[in-house]
Amino acid sequence: MSSYIIKGGKRLNGEVKISGSKNASLPIIAASILNGSKTKLYNIPDIHDTQITLKILKYIGCRVKKTSEKIEIDSRYITKKEIPEHLMREMRSTVILAGALIGRFKEATFSYPGGCDIGARPIDLHLKAFKKLGINIEEEYGLIRCKCDKITGTNIDLDFPSVGATENIILASVLAQGKTTITNAAKEPEIVDLVQMLKKMGAKISGEGTAQIEIEGVQKLKEVSYRVMPDRIEAGTFLCAAAITGGKVKLINAIPEHIVPVISKLEEAGCKIKTDENSIEIEAAKRLKAVEIKTMPYPGFPTDMQSIIGAVLVTAKGTSIITENIFENRFKYLSELNRMGAKYKQEGSVAIITGVKKLLGAKVKSTDLRGGASMILAGLAARGETQVENIEYVLRGYENIDKKLSKLGAEIKLKEGD
Ligand code: EPZ
Repeated sequence: MSSYIIKGGKRLNGEVKISGSKNASLPIIAASILNGSKTKLYNIPDIHDTQITLKILKYIGCRVKKTSEKIEIDSRYITKKEIPEHLMREMRSTVILAGALIGRFKEATFSYPGGCDIGARPIDLHLKAFKKLGINIEEEYGLIRCKCDKITGTNIDLDFPSVGATENIILASVLAQGKTTITNAAKEPEIVDLVQMLKKMGAKISGEGTAQIEIEGVQKLKEVSYRVMPDRIEAGTFLCAAAITGGKVKLINAIPEHIVPVISKLEEAGCKIKTDENSIEIEAAKRLKAVEIKTMPYPGFPTDMQSIIGAVLVTAKGTSIITENIFENRFKYLSELNRMGAKYKQEGSVAIITGVKKLLGAKVKSTDLRGGASMILAGLAARGETQVENIEYVLRGYENIDKKLSKLGAEIKLKEGD
């Protein structure tokens, strides 16, 4: 596994262009299965998770052409309806491909995605919804076989506003017979982006971004060109990188309304933030103030930003309280920060952080994708040198993060693993 070697203490200054959204790209790439035609996608980040998703599309028979600025997918010649287990294991969110395969072919075989470092990541809500749509599901030897003669639109009420389940229901029902209504649907901007792309393909969907989404099944979807939204979590990550280093940074291609809770919490901590339609500029406070964070489904504070703002708060003045309401195991990064001098106590889903003046450089591990980002930010602010190990986690979700940080004045170098 590779590492980043970071020399801390440099204030970040300058401009950074935010890449396309990982969490919008994955369902949007999956949606290209549905039209049995050509799809041109722009602003897809070149990261591990999109590479794996495209690898699976090729495995099932799609033709995929990648250039620096666009990805062309031709889904006319799909021959397989099975997602290979080893690739499912590499990335649990490939379960989103199942919804698209079922939506077009009324069949899909895939394996349980398996848990990851932040939690069990069950897919019970996905499977319950598929059954309600009339899809037969058989499970054996860890494989899930879905098959039906037709998909019949119905009403689906989600026990929890699951992002993936909402996306999978939409993908499985856009070509169904009749209307599907999702209540208690997730409202994340990535779902709105997926729906905008599907509507450009000819899907009949309304209510995206609200708790009630209606999908009127259509016969066919047409070819489409679509530009994916900017990555709001990457934007939040760079805001926090500026905040923790006492810097001044302008984000280009960042949509403020996608991360309002992150902006307001950084302002509450003492940062000055200016926004316009497609940019966010932050000037960090001399010393940040402690705040309270509660992660919630959108439009609440995003769970993906929890470990990242956590790194900022370990050096804030006062005691911060973080409550993680979405995933059961998303505080692992704190024990790594403790190696750098962070002071915290965890009681169940609550972490109490007592701010310290300075962190000291150390060797720390990326515990997961966003935990790795948290380590990088801590290294940027720490005195001395920090080695962040297992950065393959970080490369799953951040495009050229080291180059972008270096351009802002950080001293960060890649140390290849064996
Ligand atoms: C998406 O994951 C994102 N991933 C996650 O980002 C993000 O943290 C999460 O939404 C919440 O915003 C992608 O979009 C690829 P959920 P997803 O279904 O869809 C429980 C990152 O760092 N649940 O909304 O898996 C689940 O256990 C990643 O970019 C069930 O119980 O999230 C969790 O506690 C991490 N049963 C909660 O719901 C189900 O069938 C939220 O999960 C599904 C989910």
